[in-house]
Amino acid sequence: SQVASAEYVKSSVRTADCPSDGLPEFALVGRSNVGKSSLLNSLVRRKNLALTSKKPGKTQLINHFRINDSWYLVDLPGYGYASAPKDSRLIWEEFTKDYFLKRETLVSVFLLIDASIPAKQIDLEYASWLGRNRVPMTLIFTKCDKRKKKKNGGRRPEENIEIFLSLIGKFFETTPPWIMTSSLTNMGRDEILLHMSQLRNY
Ligand code: GTP
Ligand code: MG
Repeated sequence: SQVASAEYVKSSVRTADCPSDGLPEFALVGRSNVGKSSLLNSLVRRKNLALTSKKPGKTQLINHFRINDSWYLVDLPGYGYASAPKDSRLIWEEFTKDYFLKRETLVSVFLLIDASIPAKQIDLEYASWLGRNRVPMTLIFTKCDKRKKKKNGGRRPEENIEIFLSLIGKFFETTPPWIMTSSLTNMGRDEILLHMSQLRNY
């Protein structure tokens, strides 16, 4: 399940512009700055394949990266930043919604949640939207390397994760699969790649 090759293919504005070769794909979604691009780089063991930034809003389009010439990782723009005036308001870019509902080769959405801070309303709304629309989902908890800080509610990543899972329980018949990760230590990398290979059936 390891990555032997990874190449940037294209950036698309709309679902209709995405690659049409039918290869299966996994989309990384989550709040701006949660670590989507960093996770992608960790998975493919490259520092700068996907561009990252301390400033939220770095990724703007649907970016396709072809892995091992046989499947795609997709880096999407973050939510909860440019388009949302309030943290608690779920405003979708029309094109991401369209992508989730129409992209036939999408095997599973990987929803990234920052485990170093308490659950955010916008993340709960996002998870609920995906659940209601029955979009297959895997939860990826990021920044699990971060130690607890008073200003972050004083909880360990494990505690934040437990609370998040209990809060989304009501949106799902069964808890979605979830994985703890860190792009700093590469925690969770092999587990994600194995999970993706199982979802692809090879
Ligand atoms: P947008 O493209 O703006 O939506 O952001 P993104 O989700 O792609 O986040 P990005 O990967 O650019 O990372 C945002 C910031 O978080 C950067 O400063 C990263 O170095 C940091 N970061 C990402 N993952 C981790 C992690 O696992 N641990 C720690 N400590 N920091 C991380
Ligand atoms: Mg990004």
